[in-house]
Amino acid sequence: LHLNSAREQWWLEHLQSLLPDFDCRLWHDRGNDADIEYAVVWRLPEQGLTQLSNLKCIVSVGAGIDQLMGNRLLVPDVPIIRTTGAELTQRMREYVCLHVLRVHRDLDSVIRAQSEQRWRQSVTPVAGQRQVGVMGLGNLGRACAVALRELGFSVRGWARSEHQIDGVQTFAGPASLDAFLSGTDILVCMLPLTTQTENILNNSLFGQLTPGASVINVGRGGHLNEADLLGALNSGQLSSATLDVFREEPLPPDSTLWSHPKIMVTPHIASMIDPLSGGQRIAQNLQQFKAGQPVDDLVNPDRGY
Ligand SMILES: NC(=O)c1ccc[n+]([C@@H]2O[C@H](COP(=O)([O-])OP(=O)(O)OC[C@H]3O[C@@H](n4cnc5c(N)ncnc54)[C@H](OP(=O)(O)O)[C@@H]3O)[C@@H](O)[C@H]2O)c1
Repeated sequence: LHLNSAREQWWLEHLQSLLPDFDCRLWHDRGNDADIEYAVVWRLPEQGLTQLSNLKCIVSVGAGIDQLMGNRLLVPDVPIIRTTGAELTQRMREYVCLHVLRVHRDLDSVIRAQSEQRWRQSVTPVAGQRQVGVMGLGNLGRACAVALRELGFSVRGWARSEHQIDGVQTFAGPASLDAFLSGTDILVCMLPLTTQTENILNNSLFGQLTPGASVINVGRGGHLNEADLLGALNSGQLSSATLDVFREEPLPPDSTLWSHPKIMVTPHIASMIDPLSGGQRIAQNLQQFKAGQPVDDLVNPDRGY
């Protein structure tokens, strides 16, 4: 286990209790490298995993695996299992609905007006008149698209392959990106970070949204071209951005993103793995993998997510 040192002892005890047939060890206490068959990590240890000659599988303690990919210290051809789960999806649904509603009802102006003791009434369009575009229709994106539809928004979704979701207009592949973006008022990015999706939130994309649109990025910091975002906010092409993920985390104190009046920064909290249920999911995945059973969370190496 190579995890945040503040919680590693807790993780060790939790996973060991869930996996009585495994001998769980912390990375710095792992003993002989050849004993290690499974590595449970968020980020790779500094020296990588290449010295683990009997490694059978790597578990990413997160839904994304971009923090592991393309790293020369990763053992090639060793399968990677990501960590998903109902609670992760529920938390993302809560975050996305919260911020889409915040933007939709212009809550930031209401809070500003209160701080100035101003009685400022305004009528916002109803949800059905607001087009919300969801990029990524996987575990998280699909659930959020459905929840937004249930709130009454006009929802469309974009993915690599075709999807059918009742009441949601769906688009597939790069050729349909322009059509997906056109008329979108609030764009939510829930894509995995891959070579195809890096920097996808850029000037040309912003220019295709409804003028004054808002962007919510809960995917990864690498999806966003920050200079393009600042340009689009300053020109009025975008009216707000809600950012949960950043190229450098924690976001450095001197980043201009912190204090921009049209940006809300949250510290990668949209949906964190719950240690209790996340541990159960990891244990279940490891047991299934060890028994040679299919594992839903196994990453397809060709797709990179
Ligand atoms: N901020 C947070 O707290 C937080 C928490 C958890 C996860 N995340 C981020 O959310 C991401 C998504 O998680 P997930 O569990 O929903 O992933 P997932 O189940 O793998 O779904 C990914 C979705 O993105 C689509 N996609 C991938 N590459 C694409 C491309 N090039 N063009 C168009 N669509 C593309 C996929 O299309 P197909 O359906 O066609 O395969 C799929 O619909 C994670 O990778 C992670 O970066 C953030």
